[in-house]
Amino acid sequence: MFITFEGIDGSGKSTQIKLLVEYLTSHGLKVVSLREPGGTDFGEKIRELLLSKEFELSPVTELMLFEAARSHLVANVIKPALSDGNIVVSDRFYDSTTVYQGYGRGLPLEPIMICNRLAADGIVPDITFYLDISVDTSEQRSLAKDKDRIESSGNLFFEKLRHGFNELSEQNPDRFVIIDASGDRMSTHNTIIGRLNLNSIMSGIE
Ligand code: TYD
Repeated sequence: MFITFEGIDGSGKSTQIKLLVEYLTSHGLKVVSLREPGGTDFGEKIRELLLSKEFELSPVTELMLFEAARSHLVANVIKPALSDGNIVVSDRFYDSTTVYQGYGRGLPLEPIMICNRLAADGIVPDITFYLDISVDTSEQRSLAKDKDRIESSGNLFFEKLRHGFNELSEQNPDRFVIIDASGDRMSTHNTIIGRLNLNSIMSGIE
């Protein structure tokens, strides 16, 4: 089973992933947790290039680098882990590319989706938790943070991202679960595990 988390910066994905991984492993399930971009030594190097303020990257350069990191991650980590019976939990996957490089940076969506499919090589998330927060909440939660290159793109960019995630949720109701992530972390966690059908996962149906 492949679970992805999506959301704008400050939506609390990493905290929720940590809580979910603890929950799943405490029920005896094998879990591999990773993040995009990154998740492999090669991917972490691409991540540094993407987030560094040293380079000004065009939207197409960004797109290609995210897809390169993803393709490597799918082949070397995600596919082997799924074949080995693990639940794979990923902090972002190709929906981030559609939203950040498409809705955010303004690249046309159709070629992005083609690149996404190419890099994902047949892998589609079984469930995507979209942690929704307002741009104001994102801003408040990120106040103390040293922003990376992409996070420094301004509030209008973040409004576009939120709109993009909402559209993708509407287009993919079979796998997208919208979670209101404005509250405290334990109530968000409980909502997430409420939406996962642990019994069917454990009996191997999913
Ligand atoms: P990260 O520090 O991991 O942000 P977060 O904790 O919010 O996930 O940095 C990843 C950044 O890269 C984030 O701003 C989203 C962006 N991104 C894209 O623009 N396109 C992509 O395809 C992916 C995977 C991430």
